[in-house]
Amino acid sequence: MTTHLNVTTHSFTDCHAQAAALAERVAKRLRMSLNQRGHALLAVSGGSTPKDFFAQLSKETLDWANVKITLVDERWVPDTDERSNAKLVKTVLLQNEAAAATFVPLYSDAPTPEEGLAATSRRIEELALPFDAVVLGMGDDGHTASFFPGGDHLAEALDLDGKSRVLPMHAPDAGEPRITLTLPTLLETESLFLLVTGNKKRDVLADARLGLDAARDYPVRSVLTQLRVPVAVYWCP
Ligand code: 6PG
Repeated sequence: MTTHLNVTTHSFTDCHAQAAALAERVAKRLRMSLNQRGHALLAVSGGSTPKDFFAQLSKETLDWANVKITLVDERWVPDTDERSNAKLVKTVLLQNEAAAATFVPLYSDAPTPEEGLAATSRRIEELALPFDAVVLGMGDDGHTASFFPGGDHLAEALDLDGKSRVLPMHAPDAGEPRITLTLPTLLETESLFLLVTGNKKRDVLADARLGLDAARDYPVRSVLTQLRVPVAVYWCP
């Protein structure tokens, strides 16, 4: 384990062990909140990396009926689409013990994220933050949530003093239109995790932290350099 400023890195040689360790840690957080407040709130990323983590978390024994789960970002596609993060969460995380949890989607059937924004913002408002845990992922281009390089609402989404909870995002490499929780919203959490795999992403993270060359513009840098919430990176090759 290494700590640098606000970022602690937990490195594993085995990816199954990495997913298991994070599942255990997040479950512990949720239990703590369930004991103290009677309910718990979790926000997770989509993409391919969290599958094993989701599968292992779904088997943790806790009072899932009082846990709400939402996404840090979503591709603006219906939950029948293979690219839908909601579909992934429903098929891999909301299973086993966790089948009793309540899922709060970011997508609605409005034609665009702009038109769906008010409804999604209202759902997040109704969650009554803080989150107990937020689990981010990261792309090779240094994006996290839908904070994509070149995104049309990137500066606004990363503004720590911004008032929007949720924003639409269009970006050249985003695939489809997106909707994303903003950085200040994601930082309204008791714990913050960044789940990454592979040497390429390890290097991207190191460069982003140091602010080297193009890495200065990696959106994930805003997560790594903020001082509101400690960041725990879970890495495996
Ligand atoms: C999404 C995610 C996104 C993801 C990264 C990493 O909807 O795409 O929430 O931010 O975490 O793109 O994706 P992979 O895990 O597939 O590499």
